[in-house]
Amino acid sequence: MSRLPNVEEVIAWAREAGHLLMQGLGRAHDIRYKGLTDPVTEMDRASEALLIQRIRAAFPEHTIITEESGTLGKGDDTCWYIDPLDGTVNYAHGLPIFAVSVAFVHEGVPQVGVVYDPSRDECFYAMRGAGAFLNGRPIHPSETTELIRSLLVTGFPYDMSGREPDNLDLYAHFARRSQGVRRLGSAALDLCYVAAGRLDGYWEMGVAPWDIAAAMVIAEEAGVVVTRLTGEPNPLVLPCNLLAANPGLYPHLLAEVRTVLGTDTMSAISASGDDGRGARAAKPTA
Ligand code: IPD
Ligand code: CA
Ligand code: CA
Repeated sequence: MSRLPNVEEVIAWAREAGHLLMQGLGRAHDIRYKGLTDPVTEMDRASEALLIQRIRAAFPEHTIITEESGTLGKGDDTCWYIDPLDGTVNYAHGLPIFAVSVAFVHEGVPQVGVVYDPSRDECFYAMRGAGAFLNGRPIHPSETTELIRSLLVTGFPYDMSGREPDNLDLYAHFARRSQGVRRLGSAALDLCYVAAGRLDGYWEMGVAPWDIAAAMVIAEEAGVVVTRLTGEPNPLVLPCNLLAANPGLYPHLLAEVRTVLGTDTMSAISASGDDGRGARAAKPTA
């Protein structure tokens, strides 16, 4: 493997992309659709072009797996996952809950992750083995272990038609048994907020690796338990889904998920299953 990326350089790229996004916030956008429902604006593409240029200049030999341009490079086991704008629907509505997400992944394990929220000037970052930080301060998950006292977050795929499971059963279940279930619209921020103790737990099905790779290393370094929704390791393996919570709450959430989904659904969303993401996103090769 060539040199490891320096987290400071990745932070600089994410900040640059975030500042670019801020220039377009609240303006009219050229919105196109990938498939029927998955929107992309000209700012997603501009942010992605900037990040690709910066990574290529520093690491010309690395594969880059992007949301909008697919896989660039050979698809080997040292690669970058970039989501140039996580929270496109919020952004397109002028709602300032979105982030830039950049991850460096080696052999399927995220090593460096940066999630930058330009609206709040909040930069979450981590290098594996070196802790997780928000604007230079170490972050840690909450200590809430009782489900009824927990504030949870989830997300839903763009196209829910005909999708089984569609997450509505889990949403209803946890909404009745917790302090609340938020739907913020940015998977990267959802997971970083669990890392920082602002939220106690997060689950989602039908995400893509670029949504969560950077926040995954941030959450794990902060001390969050991050697994597939089934409790298995490797949330980045397709079909991509995850369950994350502070270590005290995690076993309770997993037990509830098992009860609600049942064995057939749990095996359908395991690493070898199929969650019916269909044409929702290009399937990365890594
Ligand atoms: C979406 C957001 C959302 C999640 C969706 C993602 P995008 O990413 O992260 O919170 O629920 O599954 O696709 O399209 O805004 O980059
Ligand atoms: Ca995303
Ligand atoms: Ca995106």
